[in-house]
Amino acid sequence: MSPWSAARAALRVYAAGAAVILAQLLRRLLGGFAEPVCARQPGRVAIVTGGTEGIGLATCRRLALLGMRVIIAGNDVTKGHQAERSLRAETGNPEVEFSYCDLASMRSIREFVLKFKERNLPVHVLVNNAGVMMVPERQETADGFEQHFGVNYLGHFLLTLLLLDTLERSGRPGAHARVVSVSSATHYVGELALDDLQSRNGYSPHAAYAQSKLALVLFTYHLQALLDARGSPVSALVADPGVVDTALYRHVFWGTRLVQKLLGRWLFKTPDEGARTSVFAALAPELEGAGGRYLYGVREARSLALTYDRQLQRALWAQSCRLARVRDPATDSIPE
Ligand SMILES: NC(=O)c1ccc[n+]([C@@H]2O[C@H](COP(=O)([O-])OP(=O)(O)OC[C@H]3O[C@@H](n4cnc5c(N)ncnc54)[C@H](OP(=O)(O)O)[C@@H]3O)[C@@H](O)[C@H]2O)c1
Repeated sequence: MSPWSAARAALRVYAAGAAVILAQLLRRLLGGFAEPVCARQPGRVAIVTGGTEGIGLATCRRLALLGMRVIIAGNDVTKGHQAERSLRAETGNPEVEFSYCDLASMRSIREFVLKFKERNLPVHVLVNNAGVMMVPERQETADGFEQHFGVNYLGHFLLTLLLLDTLERSGRPGAHARVVSVSSATHYVGELALDDLQSRNGYSPHAAYAQSKLALVLFTYHLQALLDARGSPVSALVADPGVVDTALYRHVFWGTRLVQKLLGRWLFKTPDEGARTSVFAALAPELEGAGGRYLYGVREARSLALTYDRQLQRALWAQSCRLARVRDPATDSIPE
């Protein structure tokens, strides 16, 4: 990637963020962010990746308050157990637990799923929430994938496919299981480099983050098409939380961090406000059987036109099966 392309990607990402911030400010002045209305969910099970802080932790809190068994999947044991303890105490729900899952390692994801499956629990909600943003230098995951692509996208791709049979058994007509993938407005300015998904020909932290969020949208739509073809009682949805005051911004331009610090409480959503979109996608009764949608706040929005391109969805899916060494559920084979 040329310096010019990298600068262009950065400008586009900041412009997308600024547009969301302005819209949020207006919404806050006009009365704030709508709350999803969801019934209690006793006996139902949710897995939330990256549930140890930020939007993920707030999502776990809301699901626990609704009586769900919540499994926090994370890569930091100390933070995980701390989140488990504090959520149990805050919500009075003893069925909140931490389980180790490093999305930067295919082996760790497989071990997490194996351990989970040994317990014969259902999964009614999977929230693919964990993420990293704008890692300054190109870094690779344990399997040699570029960090944003590997953690934000491919790790969740593998996790979802490995849990698909359990999700399919857990859902039923009228009460679909749901896969919620947390994307971002940056997907609108993302580009998918199918011939260089790992950013080997030049790295831009902004382009890499936006690409990973774009990939999650393409993945969700293709997954929904597959589920529809199989008549599966599972829905796949995208949640866009908006711009939220979390530690995700640790690597961004210092000016943005200063704005976050000084004006964050007016311009940014709180983690709880950000989590409302994930909870809405996971549980809202009005979304029953209505997968394949992009949700912003508590309403549907159109994603980037490119995300509806079936051929692009298929191409990314096939590459992802190959990279993650997982069977393509559509063909029941691992693509060469
Ligand atoms: N904040 C925003 O404005 C915003 C906007 C749009 C979309 N989003 C999306 O929302 C999601 C949550 O972000 P956030 O703002 O809540 O950020 P955050 O506070 O930094 O939380 C990110 C979570 O992901 C976890 N994580 C990172 N790498 C992981 C790995 N290898 N394996 C397992 N877990 C890992 C983190 O755990 P550790 O810290 O222990 O690694 C943390 O729990 C992300 O997908 C992000 O892209 C956020």
